[in-house]
This record gives sequence, C-alpha cells and structure tokens, in this order.
Amino acid sequence: MSNVESDAFVFFGATGDLAFRQVFPALQSLIRRNAFDGPIVGVARSAATVDALRDRARASLEAHGGVDPQAFAKLSERLRYVNGDYQDHTTYLRLRTALSESKRPLYYLAIPPELFPTVAKGLASSSCNDSARVVVEKPFGRDLASAQELNRTLHHCFPESDIFRIDHYLGKEPVQNLLYFRFANSFVEPIWNRHYVQRMQITMAEAIGVEGRGRFYEEVGAIRDVVQNHLLEVAALLTMEPPVDHMADALRDAKHRAFDSMRPLSPTDIVRGQFRGYRQEKDVDPHSTVETFAAMRLHLDNPRWSGVPIYIRAGKRLPLTSTEIRVDLRPSPHAVFGGSTPHEPNYFRFRVSPDVIISLGACIKAPGEAMVGERVELLARDSTADDMTPYERLLGDALRGDAMLFVREDEVESAWRIVEPVLGDVTPVHEYEPGTWGPTEADALVVYDGGWHNPEPPRP
Ligand code: BG6
Repeated sequence: MSNVESDAFVFFGATGDLAFRQVFPALQSLIRRNAFDGPIVGVARSAATVDALRDRARASLEAHGGVDPQAFAKLSERLRYVNGDYQDHTTYLRLRTALSESKRPLYYLAIPPELFPTVAKGLASSSCNDSARVVVEKPFGRDLASAQELNRTLHHCFPESDIFRIDHYLGKEPVQNLLYFRFANSFVEPIWNRHYVQRMQITMAEAIGVEGRGRFYEEVGAIRDVVQNHLLEVAALLTMEPPVDHMADALRDAKHRAFDSMRPLSPTDIVRGQFRGYRQEKDVDPHSTVETFAAMRLHLDNPRWSGVPIYIRAGKRLPLTSTEIRVDLRPSPHAVFGGSTPHEPNYFRFRVSPDVIISLGACIKAPGEAMVGERVELLARDSTADDMTPYERLLGDALRGDAMLFVREDEVESAWRIVEPVLGDVTPVHEYEPGTWGPTEADALVVYDGGWHNPEPPRP
C-alpha cells in the first residue's frame, strides 16, 4: 500500500490562514498539471457551506498567483466541505461518509499544533486513519520533550512511513540543488572536507518584521521559528556523507547522522538580538526577551568536519531579504604572485532566495602588464524563476507517498537536542536597530578577517 497514490485530499483548517496563503494555490497548480484528480475535502468550523469555501478559494487565488479559470473550475467542482468542531466525534463520522469512496486519503493538518493531538485522535477513533497519510506543519514541538510527545501521539494513529512533516525549505528548488550540486559533481567531493574547507556561513536575512504575528512569534522566536528546522536542515544537506541513493530513507539516514554529529550549542556560541520596536508590536509583551535575531557557531564532531565552524545567522528587520550560504575554502599555502594576489580564498556561494545563484569565487589575472589579480565568480546557475512553489512540490510528493523531502522523527528530535541548551533566556538578548545586520555583539562570534558575509541585495 505504501506507494499507492492518495485518492483524496482532506485539509483541516480549510478557512485558516495557511490554507488561504498556500494550500489553495498549491491545489490549483497540481490540478493544472494533472497531478491530482481526486476529491478535495475542507474541514473547518467557520464556513457555513461549500459555496462559502469556494468563495474563500477564489479569494485566496486572486491574492496568491491568480485564478486559472479551467483549473479553478475543476477545483470548485471537486471541493467538498465538512463543517464541524474538531472536538466533536460526529465531525469525523461525517468526514468518513464524505470519504466513502477513498482507499488512501491524505490529511493535511493546516491547524495550530496544539490541535494536532485532538484531530489525530478524532481520525483514529472514527477509523478515518485506516490506510491514510497525514501531513503536519512545523513547529514540530517546542523542545525535545514536546517533540517526542507529539511523535508519540502521531504514532498512536499513523505509522512513521505515513507521516509527512513539512519543512517548506526542503521544497525549495535551490535547496534541492545543494544536494544535487554536491553529489552530481565529481570535483566537489574530494575538497568537501576539513582539509580544504575552512568554514561555512549560512545567513537567512529578512527585511520584514513579525507582520502582525506577534502572538505566534512570542511563542517561538528566531531559534525555534527558522534555525531548529530550516537552517539546520540546510546545514545537514551541506555536511552529510553521500547517501547511497536518492531514496527517501538513504537521504534521511545521511541527514540524521549529520545532525547527530552536530555538537549541542553552548551559550558561548550564540548571540541573540531583538529589533528596536518589537516590544511595541501587537500581542507582544512590552518586556519580551524573545529573540528576533540569532547568530551562532556550530561544530560537527566527525572526521570530515572536525574544526570547521559553521556560522548560522537569522533575523527579522535586517537590511534585505535573502538566504545565502558561503563555503570558504582554505587559502593556497604559497603566494606565487606575491602581494599582487588577492588574499580572499576561493569560495562557493549558494543563494537560496529570493533568486538562485550557485557560483565559485575565483581569482584571474587582470588584463595588463602586471601580474595583478582580480576576483570573479564562475556562475553555475543564476536565475530568478522557480515555477513550482515549495507547497505545490511537497503536497504533490505527499500525495504520491514520496517522503524524500519530508523530515523524519529522528531528525526533528536530533535538531531539538542541538538548540535546546540555548532556548529561552539562557543568554541575554541585545537590541539592534531595524535595518541593520543585528547586534554588534554577533560580530565577536566570527573571529577572522572579513567577518560575516552579508548577502547581496536582490536584483531589481
Ligand atoms: C517560516 C517562518 O517558516 O519561514 C517565517 O515561520 C519566515 O517567520 C518564513 O518568514 C520564511 O520563508 P521564505 O520561504 O519566505 O523564505
């Protein structure tokens, strides 16, 4: 049964924000590509009728990517609605009736995580979980103990092979390209280790603030919101051993081993920041010490990466929005061209958003009499468009039962182990001005010439 395609898509939280921003647009795209032709069942409390849900779907598409008349007509026709409270057993009985033709439904829980246990138990007690898959969204818990508890709850109702944990970063084309670039090129592997790489930096900068999500952000902060998941996943893709193939478990085994060799962060390896004005945001405690910025130094204790620091930085209200990875190679041991050679070592630059760049920083001779060098970037990929959104890709994969881009329980738990020692107020939070690169205290983490590498502004 494991590889059988799901024949119905059910989403809880059908009238919520996540469904509005991501799920309807992804469904329309899947239908346009003929990637899914089963019934679509929305479950929620607030829409009165299926027509009200259709109106919501149209409004969602108008706001996010546009209405494709043909695909939308199919989506509308296949849309069904189960109105009910998630605590009420009869909601699940009505859902089962709506799914009477389905043999392998997929449930997408687009609801706050505190409702996961209620819905999972409701599905199980009505036998709606028979041969079903379930998709859950981050945050997967808020520390190791709650992640383990959540995993236990889900496992009461679904086997691990039918649980799909979404980290939308893994659905981004350029993030997958990290993997492809590393393992499809024979020149990379011989230098991808402590002998040739001196350090890595991963920066996720966002110009936006918390955008009215103050209540949510007060519960998470930058470490829980984007480091424990998106950025540690990226770090694992950059550092893992080659998987034996590209099947889901080979990849996830390799990532899990990388997580396991990441040393839990110590308070001396992290600097937290909060932008000036955060405490005046709606639903934010005026004395809040939640971080909107975090910079850290991560170490891996394994033969490949011993002694190579990985610097990770994420923040809101920074000067621009971009995620960039930089892998600095060691400088050459002898300067043949004396002082005329630029001293910056070679590097790889992977820009993950908003545009996509994979490049190698190199030196060439500048035209002219003197043996003087100039820096250039050899571009492997430079593009703006990603025609498939992460949600379209990931929901399509989940419907097909392809778990490669989903996070396994052991990865989630290992990632919590790494950040747990620095969660909360273990370290002070330093204020920074909006529009800067975070508190100056973060500079002290990166003790070499050049310091933090700030991503370039997006192209116009
Ligand atoms: C989400 C976080 O997971 O990722 C947000 O909750 C963040 O705070 C977002 O803004 C960034 O994702 P993207 O795809 O816009 O880079």
